[in-house]
Amino acid sequence: MFDTIIRGVNLPDGRQGFDIGIRAGKIAAIEKRLTAEAGQVIEAAGRLLSPAFCDPHFHMDATLSLGLPRMNASGTLLEGIALWGELRPTLTREALVERALRYCDLAVSQGLLHIRTHVDTSDPRLVTAQAMLEVQELVKDYIDLQLVAFPQDGYYRAPEGAKSLERALDMGVGIVGGIPHFERTMEEGRLSLEALFRIAAERGLPVDVHCDETDDPLSRHVETMAAETIRFGLQGRVNGSHLTSMHSMDNYYVSKLIPLIAEAGMNATPNPLINIMLQGRHDSYPKRRGMTRVRELMAAGVNVSLGQDCCMDPWYSMGSGDMLEVAHMAVHVGQMGGIAEKHQLFEAVTVNSAKTMGLEGYGLDIGCKANLVILQAADVTEAIRLKPTRLYVLRQGRVVSQTAPRLPQLSLAGRPGQIDPGLDYLPA
Ligand code: FE2
Repeated sequence: MFDTIIRGVNLPDGRQGFDIGIRAGKIAAIEKRLTAEAGQVIEAAGRLLSPAFCDPHFHMDATLSLGLPRMNASGTLLEGIALWGELRPTLTREALVERALRYCDLAVSQGLLHIRTHVDTSDPRLVTAQAMLEVQELVKDYIDLQLVAFPQDGYYRAPEGAKSLERALDMGVGIVGGIPHFERTMEEGRLSLEALFRIAAERGLPVDVHCDETDDPLSRHVETMAAETIRFGLQGRVNGSHLTSMHSMDNYYVSKLIPLIAEAGMNATPNPLINIMLQGRHDSYPKRRGMTRVRELMAAGVNVSLGQDCCMDPWYSMGSGDMLEVAHMAVHVGQMGGIAEKHQLFEAVTVNSAKTMGLEGYGLDIGCKANLVILQAADVTEAIRLKPTRLYVLRQGRVVSQTAPRLPQLSLAGRPGQIDPGLDYLPA
């Protein structure tokens, strides 16, 4: 007896037509044909079942604030930071919670149930940290929300940057963040990493740093991150977010750097939507793409996850909580259009991101938590191509979102009356 059986799913690894049995919120069986009884049966009929999506890099304190107090006229990272600085003194806990909850509703509908968000700790009021801790509690039954103490204006550069970050950690924010390339000098950036890694090691916390989000090929804080990871024994618990300067670095230097990142067991999280939007802004033509070297990092065995970063905020006027949109952009920016590469990028928004976030019980094995999404697509490559409807989203076996399939009705002489974009266009 199962609580739920999902019949006839395709799996990301290519297996087709399997039944999934769910009991007590966990995957209890994966077989060709389950004959046991179930309280609920969902007919998937050849659709793709995926573990719920993970976003390992987001800013939930800024989301849905687009246009407040004004639009970002230049569209640049630096004007975005300045604009956020204008908005920040006016933020209230109530408004932050309300926007975040609205975003979480959208995320659930997109099958996104695991989010790591950076919480700006620059304002000593720490209203952002209060609000995000409240949201973390409010959504815990349907979203795993991880919080990073993020000194947006600099750990050393902001007047109370160092003190506020530690106070946020004392309040319960669970991950140590940083922004070394935004400190006043390269040296202060290096020193900030040293201080932040020491705090993480002493408190037993993971590290997630906005690192080298610049086109400057000499911004090499990622090297310091790798070395500090090894020095403090934090292998597997450190994430380098963005790493865009690696796009512009000298190839010889990178040939030493990537093995060092691998040796350190560091995770890497580019944010393709934001990287392609914000990098290369000082270039005329040709313009650099700015995303870090995804293919090369993956080839060296580095765990690469993909983040969304922004959704309708001072830095980015787009975004939809859809991690397949993120993977779709990575296919283009990274020029990774092969079938195996699309599978790698699908993993980057599912299992790799779960690894970066240190999630337990994630995946499609027996015993894993039944945090699942059924997509209106037959396989992984179609999922990335179509960014299809999330037919069902399950949280520990319970349906938390349901959307009818998109099945356009046509009125064309001699043509079918209805098409299914998720099944009718598969390559023969
Ligand atoms: Fe970010």
